[in-house]
Amino acid sequence: STTPKVLVHFVNQDGVKSSVTVSEGETLLDVVINKNLDISGFGACEGTLACSTCHLVFEEDVFDRLEPMVDEEVDMLDLAYGVTKTSRLGCQVTVEGWMDGMTVYVPQDVKDQREISKGSK
Ligand code: FES
Repeated sequence: STTPKVLVHFVNQDGVKSSVTVSEGETLLDVVINKNLDISGFGACEGTLACSTCHLVFEEDVFDRLEPMVDEEVDMLDLAYGVTKTSRLGCQVTVEGWMDGMTVYVPQDVKDQREISKGSK
């Protein structure tokens, strides 16, 4: 049996587009790591909902179809820079077949919540 492949386009901070073919079931954080995408500082906490550096902006029609956020994601996203109404954390979004051809955008600035809380101690 073959896992259906899904085409995903990433636009990084410099506006450079990378198009990758990924498997269903990977998170967008897995994709960035596995495909070695050049997105500086992305996924600093390795998907443990502690950093918000995996912030991605989605197209509205895609965003509307994503699984709902858990409270921890809402809280962490609140702390991210430049949050839009179609923002999500990439480590919490799992690739599904219907996403084929979508484009996700890396916001201009990210901040690592762990660095900030360290600084405030
Ligand atoms: Fe840190 Fe997603 S990788 S919150």
